[in-house]
Amino acid sequence: MMATAEKGTLRSEGPESPTGCTNKFTTGADGRWCYYDLFKGIQHDDDTRGGIFRRRRAVDCVVRGRRQRAVPGDGCAAARSRRRAHVRQRHAAIARERRPGASRTAARSSRARADAAAEFAEPIRVRAARDTHRAASDDASAGDRSGRSGRGGGAGAGAHPHRHRRGAIARRPPPHGDDRGRRRHLIYGDGRAGRRGALPRDGHRRRRRPTRGPADGRRPAPCPALTDRRMFIARHTLALQGGRPIRTEPLALHRPWFDAREAQAAAECLQSGHTGVNGPKGRDLERALEARLGARRVLATTSCTSALEAALLAAGVGPGDDVILPSFTFVTTANAVVRAGARPVFVDIEPRHFTIDPALVDAAVTPRTRAVIPMHYAGMACRVDEIADICARHRLLMIEDAAHALNASFDGRPLGTWGACGCFSFHETKDLVCGEGGAVAVRDDDALVARLEIVREKGTDRSAFARGERDKYTWVGPGSSYVLSDVLAGIALVQLQKLDEITRRKTALAAYLLERLAPLRPSISLPDAPVRSTPNWHLFAVTVDAARRDWIIRALRAEGILAAFHYVPLHSSPFIVETQGAVADLPVTDRVAASIVRLPLHAAMTRQDCDDVADAVEKVLGHPADA
Ligand SMILES: Cc1ncc(COP(=O)(O)O)c(C=O)c1O
Repeated sequence: MMATAEKGTLRSEGPESPTGCTNKFTTGADGRWCYYDLFKGIQHDDDTRGGIFRRRRAVDCVVRGRRQRAVPGDGCAAARSRRRAHVRQRHAAIARERRPGASRTAARSSRARADAAAEFAEPIRVRAARDTHRAASDDASAGDRSGRSGRGGGAGAGAHPHRHRRGAIARRPPPHGDDRGRRRHLIYGDGRAGRRGALPRDGHRRRRRPTRGPADGRRPAPCPALTDRRMFIARHTLALQGGRPIRTEPLALHRPWFDAREAQAAAECLQSGHTGVNGPKGRDLERALEARLGARRVLATTSCTSALEAALLAAGVGPGDDVILPSFTFVTTANAVVRAGARPVFVDIEPRHFTIDPALVDAAVTPRTRAVIPMHYAGMACRVDEIADICARHRLLMIEDAAHALNASFDGRPLGTWGACGCFSFHETKDLVCGEGGAVAVRDDDALVARLEIVREKGTDRSAFARGERDKYTWVGPGSSYVLSDVLAGIALVQLQKLDEITRRKTALAAYLLERLAPLRPSISLPDAPVRSTPNWHLFAVTVDAARRDWIIRALRAEGILAAFHYVPLHSSPFIVETQGAVADLPVTDRVAASIVRLPLHAAMTRQDCDDVADAVEKVLGHPADA
């Protein structure tokens, strides 16, 4: 290569440098080329390059009469791909050393990481310089058009935050148009200005480094002085340990899918004066749910908890009765049994879908057994047909806890309509949200409907009175205040119209998450739909090594993914230990409860959110728990 460096103007001719990062500029004054190698220029001890290139990482040169910093050019793509290949090889080698039997998987994930590292770390310098180059071209052509050299404040000038720090880059040229024979505005690669002798002497004060980030609250871009290695470590260190989190804005576990229509529905109720119970919105909601579920009657309630309590009370479950249910469920499933005066009998769940095991239900039936409450965890159907058979054989009542299961089905039949009745939740964590709310759907038992109407109306026959079947209403039995307000029913009605879209979005997002997380097996076990069922993907629950579970959740949350555990088993809860003494042995429940992790999944999420979830899980699972 032939290269010379003259005072103020650099000239060079020749082939690409070994790194492929040769850059070329024409000088404005005489049209000669100058070359600069961004990565290796200073390290090549090439005498022909001249002292400036050997000592400095970057150097001012004159582009079309303006002083400008040398930037990488055509050869950078080649250099980037060489660097990427190198990082990839290093990762594959490390992964092979760590896990000799799993070299292909390790190599694949290592490749992804290496690519990420190369994408992330390498362009810091390249991008800074490229932006400068673009700005220079813009300015140069603007200068051409206007017939004078432009200032570095064009559209491209603000493209990279470091341009501010490198104020000398775009500074107005000295009045004589050429700085030959004067100082050089040398800029080191780490952004420091040149030595004293190289400082500007044209009356401009050197710009000070900004002490704070941008005023709009965005994080300042990483300092270019950070080496590639430090950037790589920052990215791959867990946020829990001070590394850079996958997300700065946390991704919620659940989020209702609201828009202006819900607010409008609530406002309509407020304006109409129907804010209490038995208004038009409540009736519309119940009719719409009956049509969707194919149930004889649906009664909107204040929550799923109150729906369960009302159902047990109306079914006449009471003292001396046993009710079989899973221990892996929300506390209110069992609390409803206790409030009715009966005894909860906990049985174990199946390891794959975390729902009650029908064989164990059958084995637990005694003469005291009055009812069974299966629960469809995460919107995945339990083997509800078998449980219905067991209940029919033993003349037991089946009440489904379908809090998670609106819009899910088994054998084409909606969950919540397999038993005598099913209880749904409209809590803010569910798929259909009205804040707090629920419903009980009665399949075909008119007597049960009549008793439920009384129980949910404070033990009175007020519902019959409202229909004009009584001339006054009075206290006819035990009950409570379980009717949903019209304001919330209005919101629920809008959500019901959106429910199919909510389920469709969640199903698509779940499929994408499954695809992204599949390579992480067996470190993680993923959910799948039970046979003959159509889940609503209410939750996305995975299981991991129980010994690491709590740490994994903490690490994911630090990464901005608000993962959570689920259900502390009820059979060994303080209340049951205190009231029942002996604790049942439910090994699957204990194992699942210790290893389950819920990952965010809601209709407002995007595929990018799913990518963040998968990246965070991969990042966290790649570290030892005590790292
Ligand atoms: C399985 C199960 N049943 C019942 C409930 C109670 O629902 P609600 O909050 O509407 O009372 C929940 C709440 O999350 C639940 O997960």
